[in-house]
Amino acid sequence: MTDKIPLLIDTDPGVDDALALLMAFNDPNHELVGLTIAAGNVGLDHTVRNALKLCEVAGREDVPVYAGCADPLLHPAVDAAHVHGRDGFGDIGFEPASRSVEAEHAALAILRLSHRHAGKLLLVALGPLTNIAVALKLDPTLPQRIARFVVMGGAVSAHGNITAAAEFNIAFDPEAAHIVFQGFPHIDLADWEAVIAHGFLHGRAEQWLQADSPRARFYDRISLQTRNWSADRRGDHWHSADALAMAYALQPQGAQELLDRPVAVELAGTLTRGATVVDWNRQEGRPDNATLLMRYDQARFESLIQAALAAG
Ligand code: RIB
Ligand code: CA
Repeated sequence: MTDKIPLLIDTDPGVDDALALLMAFNDPNHELVGLTIAAGNVGLDHTVRNALKLCEVAGREDVPVYAGCADPLLHPAVDAAHVHGRDGFGDIGFEPASRSVEAEHAALAILRLSHRHAGKLLLVALGPLTNIAVALKLDPTLPQRIARFVVMGGAVSAHGNITAAAEFNIAFDPEAAHIVFQGFPHIDLADWEAVIAHGFLHGRAEQWLQADSPRARFYDRISLQTRNWSADRRGDHWHSADALAMAYALQPQGAQELLDRPVAVELAGTLTRGATVVDWNRQEGRPDNATLLMRYDQARFESLIQAALAAG
């Protein structure tokens, strides 16, 4: 029997997902009960392989990995291989992990684990919301069993990162995001604009990556391509979207400013499809279904990253 908080992460690893997973591996207060894998940053075959490899590198082959949907619900989407590498892990050509993915589909694993940990489960979504939307369609009572739901996604003032108005995770599968934002009464949201506000210096990250640990050495290799990409385009600060979401998930006490607002996903806009539309003035009578992370303790955030890389 444990008094740890059961944690289930839906993820599309992806280099920033990997840092978030290392943070979760290193947290003493949560029991990681599974990784459900989405397509997104790169194709599902790569995101599954990357999740299995990261577990192996971190010595966490106790964490079951479940493959999810290979495609968005309705429309095809473009991946983010230009950021993460064709294989999603910097194209370093790592030896695949020896362990295989579980036979159970991610959506079914989400439902089963929600029953097993009913009322206690912390669900964290770091990728497109396809798996969670399918789970919701299979069982609309899923939210009743989730203690807390943290999502990395959206751009609350339409400063997108994949289109002018939309953030990648939401834009990759807007229909799934719409189903999830409609289906869950409350979401703790770490959006792209919060990510940009919580960058850290490349130089500091390079220091952290010198830690004498297999996790730091592996992460140094898989992140090199995206760190160079980021430095070329975004200057001296690096940004890790999923790491910020994971900090908020693991240590919500680090949040320094939060705003509750109604949020909905645009499906039909020519220019705005996939945008997360915030009713800032609550003009349309919808309930506040999201708590928006506006400011997080930067020192706490950076120390969580440094500790995650140095662990093991
Ligand atoms: O927009 C950033 C998000 O999209 C991150 O979760 C990144 O890993 C990609 O999934
Ligand atoms: Ca991700």
